[in-house]
Amino acid sequence: MMDTTIVIFGASGDLAARKLIPALYNNFRKRRLPDNLQILGFSRTPFSNDAFRGKMREAVSASAPGIFDEADWRSFARSLQYQPGDVGSGKDYETLSQRIHSRDQLAGPIVYYLATAPGMYSTIIAFLGQASMLQESDRGGFRRVVIEKPFGRDRASAVSLNRDLLSVMKESQIYRIDHYLGKETVQNLLVFRFGNAIFEPLWNRNYIDHVQITVAESVGVEHRANYYDQTGILRDMIQNHLLQLVTLVAMESPVVFEADALRNEKVKVLRVLRRISPEYSARHTVRGQYEGYLSEKGVAPDSSTETFAAIKLHVDNWRWQGVPFYIRSGKKMSEKSSEITIQFRRPPTQILDIAAGKTELFTNRLSMCIQPDEGIHLCFLAKVPDQGLQTHPVDMGFNFRESFGGTAIPDAYERLLLDALNGDASLFARSDEIGLSWEFIDAVREGWESEFAPPLQRYQPASWGPSAADDLLGRDGRWWVHDCRAHHGSFGR
Ligand code: BG6
Repeated sequence: MMDTTIVIFGASGDLAARKLIPALYNNFRKRRLPDNLQILGFSRTPFSNDAFRGKMREAVSASAPGIFDEADWRSFARSLQYQPGDVGSGKDYETLSQRIHSRDQLAGPIVYYLATAPGMYSTIIAFLGQASMLQESDRGGFRRVVIEKPFGRDRASAVSLNRDLLSVMKESQIYRIDHYLGKETVQNLLVFRFGNAIFEPLWNRNYIDHVQITVAESVGVEHRANYYDQTGILRDMIQNHLLQLVTLVAMESPVVFEADALRNEKVKVLRVLRRISPEYSARHTVRGQYEGYLSEKGVAPDSSTETFAAIKLHVDNWRWQGVPFYIRSGKKMSEKSSEITIQFRRPPTQILDIAAGKTELFTNRLSMCIQPDEGIHLCFLAKVPDQGLQTHPVDMGFNFRESFGGTAIPDAYERLLLDALNGDASLFARSDEIGLSWEFIDAVREGWESEFAPPLQRYQPASWGPSAADDLLGRDGRWWVHDCRAHHGSFGR
């Protein structure tokens, strides 16, 4: 039987230890990996096989302390190997290729995982191409390349990277990862929308007032300042994770549940995302930087890199005309929490509230809690018993862990690695999606570099970002909500 091989470029790095190897180990425990899988780490650090296994053992046991099993690990670790090498040296690719072939004459299916610094992607691809390591054959199985984000820094660089890729392989061999799409709760958004008949009729401008998407993190830049200070949250989070969430909320139902049908619908949303012209920059976008960012190790002392951004955006199509999407993301926020809120319109008349003497008006809200408290909450109005006409918002809730007997929610990489091995690209981004999302982001950046730029607002760590982000909604008579945290609805603020 032919071996299947995963080659991880950048194997001594953070991603391999924190995400890739733990995800492969968990898939192994669940008996989901192909038989005869070989995992070959490749990077500059001169590890022996044993030293690499030791380092990965440490990482995996730390990532899953409750479920780590020594016997399982030992059988899994037999498939782990390491080859020191320089991604910039053609000779090292020859050694790599010989190593794969000497073990398995036919060189069965291979997935190359690019977990290096993004600046190395084009080089690696070119060398793989030169060494004929991307050629698929009927006998030898597939060759796929998984590429970590960020895919480019702007539209021009993404187009150029894409050109490099397509000069040596086909689109169907490329898997551009956005790990948000591997999250169970994000996939559940599709099931919720297209597997249930009762919500879709309401999912439009007739019933929805606006949509909010928050992806907040409590951590700062940690040890990644070198990368982050050159990147900022607009490129690090908004261009990919948040815009992916926007597409999943806004898209039409695909005709079939297949990669291209799904991605075609997402592309349609990105095409009609209204570009924010510089003149509207200060009115539609907010940028912030947490206090203390400038003294983080590796950050330029006069850096104006944003660690927070909020944007009011419009999806200019029939379904969403006039329904703003407010999105925000930040580091060093009050807590780690990712949440999508669908805020419905008010009831046409407010007889109950008026009778009860309320001045703030009630609206229904659907909150989809992506993490950490995975679930869905629908806030509706109920009568308080034995209190005349008094009403109170209550919560109808679903929680993944409770409803599925405490089943642990797998890390996104588990699913995505399996999909790449199985050839299912549904949860990976296509080049046109990436190009269009960069186009939107490039327009925002252009505004930020223009005379109309919104000022960079400082905000306190452990807060919800600069007050300008509240004004973004406040000007429209709206406010940010945190339902997933509170687990119940409320009137007004
Ligand atoms: C990554 C960003 O893509 O996503 C990081 O580069 C960020 O800056 C991370 O911390 C957040 O992912 P998650 O799954 O923890 O929400």
